[in-house]
Amino acid sequence: MTLEEKLGQLVQRAGGRSKALNSRLDDAELERVRAGGVGSYLHVAGAEPLGRLQKVAVEESRLGIPLLFAMDVVHGYRTIFPVPLALASTWSPESEERASRIAAEEATAAGLHWTFAPMIDIARDPRWGRIVEGAGEDPYLGARMAVAQVNGYQGGNTPRPGSLMATAKHFGAYGAAIGGRDYNSADISERTLQEVYLPPFYAAARAGSGSFMVAFNDIAGVPTTANRELLRGTLRERWGWQGLMVSDWGAIGELINHGVAADRAAAASLALDASVDMDMVGGVFAEDLKAVISKDPARLRQLDEAVLRILRVKEQLGLFDKPMQYHDAEREARELLAPDHREAARVVARQSIVLLKNEGRLLPLDATKLRSIAVIGALATDGLSELGSWRAQGKAEDVVTVLKGITAAAPDLKITSAPGADPRNGDLTAIPAALKIARAADLTILMIGEDFDQSGESRSRSSLELPPSQMELARRVLALGKPVVVLLANGRPLAIQELAEQAPVIVETWMLGVEAGNAVADVLFGKYSPAGRLPAAFPRVTGATPFNYSANATGRPADPDLGKDTVRYHDLPITPLFAFGHGLSYGEFRYSDLAQSTQSVAPGERIDISITVENTGGATGDEVVQLYVRDPVASVARPVLELRGFKRIELGAGQRKRVTFSLTPEQLAFWSPRGQWLVEAGRIDFWVGASSADLRASGSFEISKTHMGTAPAAALPTRVIVSGN
Ligand code: NOJ
Repeated sequence: MTLEEKLGQLVQRAGGRSKALNSRLDDAELERVRAGGVGSYLHVAGAEPLGRLQKVAVEESRLGIPLLFAMDVVHGYRTIFPVPLALASTWSPESEERASRIAAEEATAAGLHWTFAPMIDIARDPRWGRIVEGAGEDPYLGARMAVAQVNGYQGGNTPRPGSLMATAKHFGAYGAAIGGRDYNSADISERTLQEVYLPPFYAAARAGSGSFMVAFNDIAGVPTTANRELLRGTLRERWGWQGLMVSDWGAIGELINHGVAADRAAAASLALDASVDMDMVGGVFAEDLKAVISKDPARLRQLDEAVLRILRVKEQLGLFDKPMQYHDAEREARELLAPDHREAARVVARQSIVLLKNEGRLLPLDATKLRSIAVIGALATDGLSELGSWRAQGKAEDVVTVLKGITAAAPDLKITSAPGADPRNGDLTAIPAALKIARAADLTILMIGEDFDQSGESRSRSSLELPPSQMELARRVLALGKPVVVLLANGRPLAIQELAEQAPVIVETWMLGVEAGNAVADVLFGKYSPAGRLPAAFPRVTGATPFNYSANATGRPADPDLGKDTVRYHDLPITPLFAFGHGLSYGEFRYSDLAQSTQSVAPGERIDISITVENTGGATGDEVVQLYVRDPVASVARPVLELRGFKRIELGAGQRKRVTFSLTPEQLAFWSPRGQWLVEAGRIDFWVGASSADLRASGSFEISKTHMGTAPAAALPTRVIVSGN
């Protein structure tokens, strides 16, 4: 390969302008491909157009190296599933994997090799708009969902012929942006980095994610794109991951803005040295590496390594053997929005719904006792918003809106509707018309929240309150004193203290994808008992953020009975409004017969913790059984609770099942001040329950011997066995 051809492999160009896919693929672009100047395109799609482009690369360039086609296929390609935060609310890695698999089937049929997903950034500040793209606040849940997505996209432990290569992003602490302002610096301790932010990445690396994307931001002053220690040291050398590392959009050039590179050549040099292989869109590697290499021959070896890593994934995807296997237009037509994909989207969407409050058991609705329903809220007819901010090829017209879903589910009822107020603007003039139909109806379903463009990249908000027009609409509808079910739609935990005081029933629907309306109707009318659980807590007010259940023990513990000299705010209870793991059901579940296999566990051994869960309610429902642990005395302060196991189980009325969590002592390791995973001998307390704030049974065991851990503790999976029927 010539130097130019090597550099060409490092280049990823935008083949289209954001949603206008393929719009930049003109003659000049084809010339670039012929000259071997491009390794990959993003913002492209379509079996046919990409097939033509691939043909140029393999037949008309000197070396015939195939191109990699990439897109942000984040929660579906054409069949759009719930947004990732909602998918995480299923607490079902199986469902997450199924959604990713279907996305991969559609995307690969449409000519794509590579998705920029999963986003596995832990997010503890809901002001950060990108919390919607991840699995929330917890590293253990995050790691499980990361693995599920990598497996779903790739269908196995490395990218393989015909599969969709996954990207674990944004390595490694993008979600720790100070103040939740997107792209902002992270300034976290080494322990927090290792224990909280990195575990999902470790799990994704182990699951064989073919690619990683580097975060835009800096950690303690080191921009990640130039973070040799983290990228080359931790990820490649210590974790042994050898996949393709892509920069984020233009991020190599942004090293100049960060103030660690004087010019583009210095930026290129830093990124290559850190082991970034591919330059997303910036053109810095293409234009400025040559000069660097002529001055510093050590960089040539690093260039060769980068090229090899890119060629290796092309090979793994089968592109050298069968470059045209992703370009079957008939398959594309068959796959997109296939009926079984839609059906899966409905199943997953209803699993994602979280019943936050159900006072007086107003839900499920009995359609036979109602004559009319008023559906109020602009979001109830907003198909686009159900698709979220990353919608790939999703189309608003594919969406069953909430109004449509309710109308279809209750054909004998009189359904009226009115927008009331739009989350985007402060116009309240349509509220009286909405109140009129609410007055005339037996029941109101009020859908309020944020639209798709109020969360996502660069959509951080300083306030977690409902947009003012939405809260005003809610106040006035609730003031009528008639039965109201509030549906929330939003891409982040919201501070809804006032709403929660006034509204008897609140259902969190996030943004549920193409089957949103059917899924919501299934839950409202009792065809499906909700069991989604919050993957991030809802704070009482914006100022209580960041709040997370897994905080370190302090000298003044957060005990509500201890009075004011504790870590709480003087003007606020210490608890969140809705805790991590919270979610109600139409069923009732009783936990009993906690047992443990041993009192003491040694290195290399396991402890089994078992509990019986019985559905004592009258309806079938799922329960999410959760295991939390605490190391009460250690050489460093440990979190007061940490999730270390969960299982979503289905139970018919009266049915009971026994759930066994099997743990190793290494899952209790912490990052020691000496920079190692350490498992300390001593007592470990554990709890099994229905949420981090609803712990039903507890016990403790001993770790018999201090020893070294092997990996980020939260990344290690707990084995779960379910028995009984
Ligand atoms: C920037 C975003 O940070 C990243 O997540 C995304 O994959 C790229 N743009 C490409 O669209």
